[in-house]
Amino acid sequence: MSAVPNPKRLLSDSAYALIDREVAKYPSDQKQSAVMAALAIAQDEAGWVSPEVIDDIGSYLGMPAIAVHEVATFYNMYDTTRPGQFKLAVCTCLPCALRDGAKAGEYLKQKLGIDYNETTADGLFTLKESECLGACGDAPVLLVNNKRMCSFMGAEKLDALIDELKSSARSQ
Ligand code: FES
Repeated sequence: MSAVPNPKRLLSDSAYALIDREVAKYPSDQKQSAVMAALAIAQDEAGWVSPEVIDDIGSYLGMPAIAVHEVATFYNMYDTTRPGQFKLAVCTCLPCALRDGAKAGEYLKQKLGIDYNETTADGLFTLKESECLGACGDAPVLLVNNKRMCSFMGAEKLDALIDELKSSARSQ
């Protein structure tokens, strides 16, 4: 499938090619069905889904930007504000909260000196509350940058994770 002409072209050619592949999974008059995949592809590349990226995806998929925005703000794995280099999403849903998930979140708040939905001053860490990650039996659990699942995150493992991420941080 060829790309729809789009003067904005905020993403790379390879990102649009990935979106085209998702679009091809649906009937030609249902391109908007690929919106979640398109947002994920855009976020992987741009680091977050800015208003400009949301507009771009809307025009690429032939849907109103507000409809793309509604999807992007409904699911908490999409970042509609720029996160720090490492987004830590701690599951605080009830099953995890009852098994120290909330405690892990509080520990990270203290350690990083930020609240949920805030980013450390050095731009390294953003702390989020997550919905169920499907690993309730591994509580406390958290997800790093939407991709890396971390299980049984007591204080010691949280300390080790923060140290590891700090040492792997790219210079800002
Ligand atoms: Fe936390 Fe399910 S409630 S992973």
